[in-house]
Amino acid sequence: MTRFGSDATARPGPCMELFGCCGDELPTLRDLSQQAVAHALACALADVTAHAPPGAVTDDASSGASGAVTGNGPWPVAVDGTAGNGHDTLFLARLVGARGLVHAFDVQPRALARTAERLASAGLEERVVLHGRGHEELAAALVAPRAAPLSMPVGEGAWPPRVTTAMFNLGFLPGSDRSVTTRSETTLAALKALLPLMAPGGVISLHVYAGHPGGADEAAALDRHLAELDWDRWQVARYEFANKPRNPERLLLVLRLPDPA
Ligand SMILES: C[S@@+](CC[C@H](N)C(=O)[O-])C[C@H]1O[C@@H](n2cnc3c(N)ncnc32)[C@H](O)[C@@H]1O
Repeated sequence: MTRFGSDATARPGPCMELFGCCGDELPTLRDLSQQAVAHALACALADVTAHAPPGAVTDDASSGASGAVTGNGPWPVAVDGTAGNGHDTLFLARLVGARGLVHAFDVQPRALARTAERLASAGLEERVVLHGRGHEELAAALVAPRAAPLSMPVGEGAWPPRVTTAMFNLGFLPGSDRSVTTRSETTLAALKALLPLMAPGGVISLHVYAGHPGGADEAAALDRHLAELDWDRWQVARYEFANKPRNPERLLLVLRLPDPA
């Protein structure tokens, strides 16, 4: 969990607070992912605040969730491409702000049920649309005019929505059917659909586990596709431990650069 996520106006530098206080370990890939995602959302919320009328910004310290800001948007839209047990969905829901929106996808009903439960316990279910379909259908789900219930706050930003951040935690769901894993074709389809929807300054985080059948292919396919992105519009970084003996994992962070002035 980010240490600055409850402050909607914070614009932390990317190097802040990554290391444990005793210096006994490096940041995990999950730490790096959350830091990058939280930073993108904090910047997007700061823009909402900047456009808010005077006196419209309030502090929501009681709930621990950010975003008790009343402004004219556009409010952040976030995507959790693999809802699983709902940890990342909840992380995003806490940070998108009161009128922001998270689209969370999973193909397993059990995963969606767990995610719904987790959100309900935190009282944040209204910030999330759960999609019981594959992330490869992301474009249809987000761009279709009826992507969200009419009660959802979808009308405040650009249309089609500009996505501030997206998280993909690939592989299989721990404690569940290990034969249901993400796959190269569908992960790439989701990524290709997502790239044109990303807002300038937006970040995609892909946590890739190569240890399951098909995992190495998926990692290689992502590397190939991301390596071809135009350096003037995108920055792509890959993080991994060089000597981790088991369960190889890596983190890919994709930043949509701001449009040239
Ligand atoms: C590693 S788990 C995700 C963990 C999750 N982010 C969390 O916070 O608990 C991977 C998930 O991806 C889901 N999945 C597999 N193929 C998918 C697809 N095509 N679209 C969306 N989700 C998919 C699996 O059902 C599984 O729940």
